[in-house]
Parts: sequence; C-alpha cells; structure tokens
Amino acid sequence: MAHEISALVFDAYGTLFDVHSVSRLAESLFPGKGAALSVAWRSKQLEYTWLRSLMGRYEDFSRVTQSALEWALESLGLEADDGARRSLLDEYRRLATFPEVPEALRALAEARPLAILSNGHPEMLNAVVEHNGLRPLFRGGVLSVHAAKVFKPDASVYRLVEDHLGVPRTMMGFVSSNGWDAAGAKSFGFRAFWVNRAGAPVERLGVRPDATVKDLAGIVDLVA
Ligand code: 2OP
Repeated sequence: MAHEISALVFDAYGTLFDVHSVSRLAESLFPGKGAALSVAWRSKQLEYTWLRSLMGRYEDFSRVTQSALEWALESLGLEADDGARRSLLDEYRRLATFPEVPEALRALAEARPLAILSNGHPEMLNAVVEHNGLRPLFRGGVLSVHAAKVFKPDASVYRLVEDHLGVPRTMMGFVSSNGWDAAGAKSFGFRAFWVNRAGAPVERLGVRPDATVKDLAGIVDLVA
C-alpha cells in the first residue's frame, strides 16, 4: 500500500551521496589502504557526532570530519602531509551520488516538496548539492543541524525540518540509509523509510522503520 505523505526529507551522506567515493583518492594516496581508510574515517566521524552531542560539545561537521580523518590515518599508521589531508577533506565537497539517486529524486519531486536534513555544515552540504546539480530538486530546502548545534538523532534536529516545512510530522516521509537515523526520525514521529543498500540487520532501538527499500528507486514505488 502506498504511503500518503506531504513532503519527503532525505539524509545526505550515505543516502544520497556515497561517502566511500573518497576511497579512490585514498587508494591513490595509500595503495592497498584506501578502503580501510574510508571505513575507519566514516565510522569515527559518526562516533564523534554522537559523543559530542552527549557531551554537549557541538562543533561543526567539517571539523568533526577533519578530526575523524586524523584519527583514522593514525589508527592505520598512515602519514599524510597537509596537501593530502586537504585533498581528502575536499572530496566531501564532490562526493558522487549513488547511481539511481538523480532519476529517483526527479520522479519524487514532481508530486511533493523534497528537502535535505543533514549533519553536514551548510557550506559543505551546499557544495556537494551544487556539485551534483541537485539544487533545483530540493524546493523544500537544504537544512543543516548547524541551526540546532547538536547532531542527529537528537529530536531537536528533526524538529528543524518540521518547523521549516510546516508539515505535520505524521505526514512527513524521512528517508535515510543510516538505520540509526531512520530510527531517530521514527522516534520523533516521522514516517521513516530505510534505504538498506547493504542488507544490514534492522537496528534494535525500540522503533522500526515504516518501510525498508534497497535503494532510492524503491521510494518512488512506496509513496502516493
Ligand atoms: C547525514 O546527516 C548522518 O551523515 C549523515 O548526512
């Protein structure tokens, strides 16, 4: 059965943009270690967002991303000069979309406003949206947690987009490939759609997504 919703909100990193598209540059800088660096970097980046939120020590996502890169490099025994670090960080401004994303967004945007809600600092988020030519599809806006000074899955972050769009939370579809983010959105009261590209087990966080799809094309079939 199709879900009736008034607006769709998307997570950015890992959902629209493939954070592991950095592994190509990482591999050219550190042959044989590119994938490991990308995985360690992303996982430490998320860990730092959760820890900083719990500690009440928000700092913007570009700094968190930089700190996580430094940790990941050291954990793998990799030495990088300033130029290499800068190039790796700059990759976040031009991450590739997953292949099906542009077409799925175009189809979805015809019937309802689309928005992004991301941990990303507004500047880095805008850069990657522009780089991929997606801006016109997000007439609901490109929103950052930076306005709330806390990271997902704090409820005040999801409230940002509810307030911005003026759509009741039960009529808002929230799309994320990060299972913990889908759980946060569901806990807040959104209709949560989990994009489970990796076939991962569902998070045990006391709430379940309303639907699970394997990629963004699945969302097109899901919403009325
Ligand atoms: C985002 O907020 C969670 O990284 C993810 O874009």
